[in-house]
Amino acid sequence: AIKAFLFDLDGVIVDTAIYHYQAWRRLANELGFDISEEFNERLKGVSRMESLDLILAEGGQTLSDERKQELATQKNEWYLELVSRMTPDDILPGVAPFFSQVRKAGLKTALGSVSKNAPLILERIGMGEVFDAIIDGNKISKGKPDPEVFTKGAAELEVQPDECVVFEDAVAGIEAGKRGGMHTVGLGSPDVLTQADMVAPSLEHLTVDQVLERFQG
Ligand code: BG6
Ligand code: MG
Repeated sequence: AIKAFLFDLDGVIVDTAIYHYQAWRRLANELGFDISEEFNERLKGVSRMESLDLILAEGGQTLSDERKQELATQKNEWYLELVSRMTPDDILPGVAPFFSQVRKAGLKTALGSVSKNAPLILERIGMGEVFDAIIDGNKISKGKPDPEVFTKGAAELEVQPDECVVFEDAVAGIEAGKRGGMHTVGLGSPDVLTQADMVAPSLEHLTVDQVLERFQG
């Protein structure tokens, strides 16, 4: 049976995926090139330094480790400016009702985010106390598509991987869930999230019963 739901943060609970894109784009522009929205799909769920490496490769630039650290820090400062203005109003539509259904169904919850800023964002939106377990970028050594962030969540909740459903907006996040042996729900476009077991536009367009029915009949 399904016992736990594991949620990504950026692009699932809040729309910070857009802030990441804006901040990375600003950085790329300063380096003299641009990154498209389509390219940005490849950055979702990927750690800060790995994202920078992908961006520099896209712009055909090779930089020293020291310079890369500076750029990653700069991007994070721009990103944090956007995050600092967040309030509970920035929680995506449908999240609150979905979580009350989750609680009613007696399911456990974990956050599974590669972001080191996840605790700050949860605090800003007033969701710091909502999850039974929080695994974020400070607790893991490998970003998505490695399954570490989700397998650690399942372990902390004391549930088996096949008792978990992962909710993800990122291609890398769906891959992480699958590699972890979990069921996956893609939130976004079915054309992008082709590997997900089921896809909905967002949590607003999904009920807990629909998910449970899909995975346990
Ligand atoms: C993920 C985002 O949640 O966190 C990525 O999808 C981001 O875009 C990654 O790069 C790391 O985030 P942060 O906040 O630690 O730079
Ligand atoms: Mg995401």
